Amino acid sequence: MILGIETSCDETAAALVTREGEIRSNVVSSQAELHARFGGVVPEVASRRHLELVLPVVRGALADADASFDEVESVAVTQGPGLIGALLVGLSAAKAIAWGLGLELVPVDHLAGHVASLYLDPDPLEPPFLCLLASGGHTLLLDVQAHDRYEELGGTIDDAAGEAFDKGARLLGLGYPGGAALDRLTRDGDPEAFSFPVARVPGLDFSFSGVKTALLYAVRDVGDELEERRADLAASYQRAIVAALVERTRQAAEQTGAKRIVIVGGVAANSELRAALPEAVAAPLDLCTDNAAMIASAARYRKPVPYPGYRRRGVGSGSSAKGVLGSSWVSGSSSS
Ligand code: KG4
Ligand code: ZN
Repeated sequence: MILGIETSCDETAAALVTREGEIRSNVVSSQAELHARFGGVVPEVASRRHLELVLPVVRGALADADASFDEVESVAVTQGPGLIGALLVGLSAAKAIAWGLGLELVPVDHLAGHVASLYLDPDPLEPPFLCLLASGGHTLLLDVQAHDRYEELGGTIDDAAGEAFDKGARLLGLGYPGGAALDRLTRDGDPEAFSFPVARVPGLDFSFSGVKTALLYAVRDVGDELEERRADLAASYQRAIVAALVERTRQAAEQTGAKRIVIVGGVAANSELRAALPEAVAAPLDLCTDNAAMIASAARYRKPVPYPGYRRRGVGSGSSAKGVLGSSWVSGSSSS
């Protein structure tokens, strides 16, 4: 089995996945409540909480799978992109576990992880496909040619879609992180009540900073009536973001001749987006937001990093720990 560890933002996560792609356990401990009072993730607070949670979460993943470390042959860990301090906690834990037990160590790109959320049982998907990856940190259109290979076709030139949801939710007084709360509120609102245009930038790129400013002005304009207009504002705002995502995705599919469209990442959990792209395959809801099963899944298609402790006698074997404990492959922008 592969032990996956993910700590790139404010979720401390560990999972056990078999080489064949069966999820044996998937534990996610969200720090959202901890950061809510700050209105966003505070990197240093996140790092400290990861440090407290990472080993209990790994133990939880083993317990849920009714497994022991003896059954783990590979440790997969998010190497980036993400908050550097948060990443370092997961990386250090993964390196220590791999080195101590003489296991394989597989660094995984977080974005490749989101794509690999589609490769898991019970309904694994085979590339090629066109992938819309929309999360709190990224909004990308990817031409996925093989399990471990994709090309970027477009991306956001400012805010990510999830960021637009979160900032919009904050303007509407829905707290942090507000994407899911805003999604729920839209059920009571009229999406035609307000007109929020989304900038059309050249090529296959996205821009969401303008729509956010438009919401800011609209909230200001409704003034004391915010309470009564909140659901209408939310529904109209969501409609605009979803329309932009759908339009660009279909355009990309047309340009590349993609036979299949898939959506992954936190925003792929959005009910309107899922409904507006009925032809697309969406990642399972529990695998849209950050988790470690997707990291372990991506590791199935990646080579482990060579290091002195691997398949030796582990700690005390006399092998140098330099390659393991160094942070030379911590990266903020690698992609596969
Ligand atoms: O993939 P993810 O967990 O983290 C990153 O890699 O960034 O995505 C989190 C983002 C947040 O911005 C959150 O508000 C958004 O996904 N999100 C949603 C929904 N559920 C989560 N946005 C819109 N509708 C949802 N139902
Ligand atoms: Zn993510």
